[in-house]
Amino acid sequence: MLQGKTVVLGVSGGIAAYKIPNLASMLKKLHANVEVIMTGNACHFITPTTFESLTGNKCLVDTFDRNFQFQVEHVELAKRADLFMIAPATANVIARIAHGLADDMLTTTFLACQAPKLIVPAMNTRMYENPITQDNLRICRKYGMGIIEPAQGYLACGDVGAGKMPEPAELLDHIRQEIGCKKDLTGKRILVTAGPTREAIDPVRYITNHSTGRMGYAIAQAAAWRGAEVTLISGPVELKPPLGVRVVPVTSAREMFEAVIAAAGTQDAIIKAAAVADYRPAVVGTEKIKKSDEEMNISLERTDDILAWLGAHRREGQFLCGFSMETEHVLENSRAKLEKKNVDMIVANSLRMEGAGFGADTNVVTVITRDGIKELEKMPKSQVAHRILDRIFGADEGSRDHERDPVNAGNRERKDC
Ligand code: CTP
Repeated sequence: MLQGKTVVLGVSGGIAAYKIPNLASMLKKLHANVEVIMTGNACHFITPTTFESLTGNKCLVDTFDRNFQFQVEHVELAKRADLFMIAPATANVIARIAHGLADDMLTTTFLACQAPKLIVPAMNTRMYENPITQDNLRICRKYGMGIIEPAQGYLACGDVGAGKMPEPAELLDHIRQEIGCKKDLTGKRILVTAGPTREAIDPVRYITNHSTGRMGYAIAQAAAWRGAEVTLISGPVELKPPLGVRVVPVTSAREMFEAVIAAAGTQDAIIKAAAVADYRPAVVGTEKIKKSDEEMNISLERTDDILAWLGAHRREGQFLCGFSMETEHVLENSRAKLEKKNVDMIVANSLRMEGAGFGADTNVVTVITRDGIKELEKMPKSQVAHRILDRIFGADEGSRDHERDPVNAGNRERKDC
């Protein structure tokens, strides 16, 4: 995803600096070129050698007194940067960058850099909440820098509160959001549903299915990274909300139906990856149902078919995509849903296929439209997500050769973004 991108990591002197090698390593795995600049104080917490080993690049440390070459290096690096992140950003560094002070390698390069900038404050709660720091952060925002809010938690100094640096995986998500993808879906509104629904039997029990929500979450994340305005209506899942996505949590099929119809009118595309219950208990016990020695039956009634409702009420030009999970007759059953629910596309998969289905990291899908059928080979759900978006928004011309060419299949994710 980040091939050909240069990410500059500015590391200042806070204890959270020890987490940044992990971020550098994650960025390298995504093929980014990673350049690290440390302040002198950061070297008390971690050594430049650590970064040099991980990135393969020289780690720059504060100095203007060594030689002339170093003095111009900051400008050259500032020009090459696709993104500059300062993490951790101490109160001192924030104050300096807010006011344009450039008295070391990090702040000089930062001031010379015109790429997108992300600041990750990490410090003691009292320092963070101090109005001076807050004013400095406001100034940084005013100049277009992105501020990644610190998490709440137990801090190294023993205090509990705001000031904790978010984990490297979250920082990586912010970088991917910023420079990971071409913003080819800017201006599009996309609604995605994901996960299972739960249909209550009584206050203790419910009926559900094995959906984990991963496919829908991957689509929502990919769409947001490509610049779309994304709403994700999610059943109960264990996944963290994708960055940059508006998440509407729901529990039952009824709640999902209401949330979808409330949002549908303004959407350019709706992708229904959720595994919605087709039936719910006709009567929900208000108290826990006690067992007896008799057999027990639960009477079920139909839920609303949300996708069919959308097919019958779609706004002009709106694209509807459903999913179809089958165990047999995948193509026939899925194609029938295309017609019956009046949608533009069905993404079909078989539970019987290795590498497809609930909870897996990969999927094997067949995309069915009125024009034809396209089988995609096994690939990570993150990549399936991009392929689906490509087909919906007509951006998949370039990828067709790849689909016929498994030898180059591994390059595909990079090609997406
Ligand atoms: N769907 C829906 N509302 C329902 C049931 C399903 O919106 N009450 C949507 C799903 O989100 C999916 C598509 O319809 O996009 C197909 O779902 P699937 O369960 O495969 O098919 P069903 O229509 O439920 O038919 P069957 O269970 O008979 O296969």
